[in-house]
This record gives sequence, C-alpha cells and structure tokens, in this order.
Amino acid sequence: MAAAAVSIRWPNGARSTVPAGTDWLSAASAAGFAIPTGCLGGSCGACEIDVNGQTVRACISTVPACRDGELTVELFSDPAWG
Ligand code: FES
Repeated sequence: MAAAAVSIRWPNGARSTVPAGTDWLSAASAAGFAIPTGCLGGSCGACEIDVNGQTVRACISTVPACRDGELTVELFSDPAWG
C-alpha cells in the first residue's frame, strides 16, 4: 500500500509533500530547510521541532500520517532558553 502523502509547511515558508514515513531530516533538506542537529541519536535535543504543536526529535522520527494531510513545522523554542 502506498504511504499517504503529507503536505508540510516549513518555518522558512517552504512547502513540500512527502510520503508518510519519510524521516524528518531528509524531508527538511529536500524542502531546502536545515534542521539543526547534534548527536543524531536522539539524546541531545538539538533537532527538536514542533510538528502541529507537538515536539519531536527530528533525527529519530519520521513524518507521521495525519488526518487532514497537512503538518506545520516550527523550530522548537524552549521558553526557559528564551
Ligand atoms: S540530533 Fe541529537 S537528539 Fe536529534
């Protein structure tokens, strides 16, 4: 079964459409957006992004299928760090 296409809005204003299950870092670079990274292993948090308001670590996550087929990505900003 083909993966559902998910349309993504990036913080730089770009939009792209990828199959659900694409890893976030690939999806971002294909859209011309660079997610900051550090460990690439899920432990440092440098790659955190907000996806429809939910924080995910991009290096260990994939684009989820979503009901309305559209996700909005924001760079995660921790209020404690201003
Ligand atoms: S790059 Fe370290 S948690 Fe993703």
